[in-house]
Amino acid sequence: MATRASLGQDVGWLLPFLFFLLMITVSPAQSQGCPQRCECIAKLKTVSCYGKRLSALPDGIPLDTKILDLSGNKLRWVEHGDLLPYSRLEKLDLSENMISVLEPNAFSSLQNLKSLSLRGNQLKLVPMGAFSRLSNLTSLDLSGNKIVILLDFTFQDLRSLKNLEVGDNDLVYISNKAFLGLVGLKELTIERCNLTSVSSQSLSYLHNLVTLRLRYLSISALEDQNFRKLGNLRGLEIDHWPFLEYISPHSLQGLNLSWLSITHTNITSVPTSALRSLAHLTSLNLSYNPITVLESWALRDLVRLKELHLVKTNLAVVQPYALGGLRQIRLLNLSSNSLVTLEEGAFQSVNTLETLRLDGNPLACDCRLLWILQRRKTLNFDGASPKPKIRNRKLQQISAREGQVVSFICRAEGEPTPVIFWISPQRRRITTKSSGRLTVLPEGTLEIRYAQVTDSGTYICIASNAGGNDTYFATLTVSGLPLDAALMANRTYYAGDLNDTNLNDTRVFLKFTLDLKTILISTAMGCIMFLGVVLFCFILLFVWSRGRGQHKNNFSVEYSFRKVDGPAASGGQGGARKFNMKMI
Ligand SMILES: *[C@@H]1O[C@H](CO)[C@@H](O)[C@H](O)[C@H]1NC(C)=O
Ligand SMILES: *[C@@H]1O[C@H](CO)[C@@H](O)[C@H](O)[C@H]1NC(C)=O
Ligand SMILES: *[C@@H]1O[C@H](CO)[C@@H](O)[C@H](O)[C@H]1NC(C)=O
Ligand SMILES: *[C@@H]1O[C@H](CO)[C@@H](O)[C@H](O)[C@H]1NC(C)=O
Ligand SMILES: *[C@@H]1O[C@H](CO)[C@@H](O)[C@H](O)[C@H]1NC(C)=O
Ligand SMILES: *[C@@H]1O[C@H](CO)[C@@H](O)[C@H](O)[C@H]1NC(C)=O
Ligand SMILES: *[C@@H]1O[C@H](CO)[C@@H](O)[C@H](O)[C@H]1NC(C)=O
Ligand SMILES: *[C@@H]1O[C@H](CO)[C@@H](O)[C@H](O)[C@H]1NC(C)=O
Ligand SMILES: *[C@@H]1O[C@H](CO)[C@@H](O)[C@H](O)[C@H]1NC(C)=O
Ligand SMILES: *[C@@H]1O[C@H](CO)[C@@H](O)[C@H](O)[C@H]1NC(C)=O
Repeated sequence: MATRASLGQDVGWLLPFLFFLLMITVSPAQSQGCPQRCECIAKLKTVSCYGKRLSALPDGIPLDTKILDLSGNKLRWVEHGDLLPYSRLEKLDLSENMISVLEPNAFSSLQNLKSLSLRGNQLKLVPMGAFSRLSNLTSLDLSGNKIVILLDFTFQDLRSLKNLEVGDNDLVYISNKAFLGLVGLKELTIERCNLTSVSSQSLSYLHNLVTLRLRYLSISALEDQNFRKLGNLRGLEIDHWPFLEYISPHSLQGLNLSWLSITHTNITSVPTSALRSLAHLTSLNLSYNPITVLESWALRDLVRLKELHLVKTNLAVVQPYALGGLRQIRLLNLSSNSLVTLEEGAFQSVNTLETLRLDGNPLACDCRLLWILQRRKTLNFDGASPKPKIRNRKLQQISAREGQVVSFICRAEGEPTPVIFWISPQRRRITTKSSGRLTVLPEGTLEIRYAQVTDSGTYICIASNAGGNDTYFATLTVSGLPLDAALMANRTYYAGDLNDTNLNDTRVFLKFTLDLKTILISTAMGCIMFLGVVLFCFILLFVWSRGRGQHKNNFSVEYSFRKVDGPAASGGQGGARKFNMKMI
């Protein structure tokens, strides 16, 4: 600039100097010129001066630069004159500097500017007119500053702006006309501020807003008509409002949302009345709210809802007809809740469901869940199939001497986490609650202490959860004799039972299922798989029909059990009770 000022006075002696300058700019090494310390890509008209400790705009930025990256430097302010020559700029990145002052008209010469980032600076206030004349700007990022208030008319010239980020500021107030003029805005994110309200009037200028994300705010209530005039809004996210407890029945009025997400708040029930007007809603996320009960018909007006997410809400009860009215529901995610059961009644009139996630719930296995098994072919469990699967199916055969400690490993995976128990050769059930010599360790390993000859035989590991069961076999030979005799015993054990060279899973399984009747009737299983219960019913019917001749219409059976329809934690305490059944 100084050269230009002296140019008129004495051109003569300057000529060779000018010529020299011209040579430099024309020489191939510096074809476009590039500021010292910066990197330039001439072809893309890009200049990057990222992280160069610059405290002022560097000299020598080519005038036709389109993309200028000045992020991560030490710039403190932006004045009108600084950017005056670079009117071709389309993208300007000033993020992560120390800018605390913006002059009015600071950017007004950049009429081609499309993207401006001022993220991570020290701005406390955006003066009126700072963004004046930026009518081509489509993206503006002001997040991570210290802005306390957004003044009226701050953005009024930004009629092309589509994306505005004002998150992570110290905003306590958004003036009513702050967003005036943002007629093109499609996306707005306001997050991590101390805002205690977002007034409906300030939002009312955003006629074309499509997505509004309001995160990490201290707002405690959604008042009536909070979003009126946002008729084009399709997605609303309300996330991390720890104080939100009240959603007024008319707060969402005027909206025509496709998706709504209200998560990490303190609301304790589904805001049924507020949702009433959202007939075009297809996805609803109410995860991470303390909603313990999903009430009957809670979502009745959401006739087009396809996805409902209620993850980790501590949900314990899904009332009958809870999904009543949801004619198009396809996906229901109830992962990580406190559900002990889920009755088919909740799904009355819902046949469209395709995916159901129930993992991470303390489901009890009883007849109330039987319908899930019946519908398993039509329901997909989103990769979290509830059916257990025992890992490492290698047959374990152990020979031991009396007094030794023996353990058999049985690990299973499945959702919900399968309960593992073992059946001894005497058909006794061994669980983690069993005390005595035979017990099951928490991860499923069967441990037999002070092994005795009578412990010899085939042990069956059963892994079961709401989706089904898996079985697995292990054999033990205990000998009171010296070790070499034990070796003999190892070989001959199967003689009367199964031929071990011939042993294969199918055979063993067939044998096992034949024995199931004995297992069920003689061993008091608290909460064996509900399929087992059903099978038990069949056996009863079978026995009954056969015994009909002798006993006419009176049949009783003694069946001792622990707990049939309690929670999964089949309580071992209390001992077995006797149960008399009459069939007429
Ligand atoms: C910028 O906006 C003006 C009108 O406001 C328009 O004439 C011009 O074409 C725009 N430039 C670009 C690059 O979009
Ligand atoms: C919110 O206000 C509290 C004091 O009232 C302050 O400690 C906190 O840093 C503020 N948070 C933000 C994001 O401004
Ligand atoms: C959420 O609600 C519970 C019970 O209503 C209350 O004890 C708790 O303080 C609330 N949490 C917040 C952050 O307001
Ligand atoms: C609401 O949005 C849907 C698309 O999601 C559209 O088909 C419908 O016409 C809109 N209704 C109104 C009243 O704008
Ligand atoms: C639902 O909201 C939670 C919390 O914000 C989020 O982690 C999750 O991804 C959302 N689920 C869907 C399907 O958008
Ligand atoms: C359901 O929620 C769980 C837990 O957040 C998540 O891992 C899973 O991806 C979700 N499934 C669907 C289909 O949204
Ligand atoms: C028992 O027999 C199996 C194979 O038949 C063998 O692997 C195992 O080592 C034997 N046990 C003892 C104590 O010899
Ligand atoms: C086991 O079966 C094999 C052939 O499959 C036979 O040779 C062997 O004698 C049988 N062993 C016993 C103990 O039955
Ligand atoms: C198990 O035995 C059955 C019947 O003998 C046979 O059809 C099947 O192929 C065998 N499976 C294996 C894995 O050997
Ligand atoms: C285990 O499940 C299978 C089918 O999945 C069933 O036939 C069998 O009876 C079940 N066994 C028990 C002990 O529940």
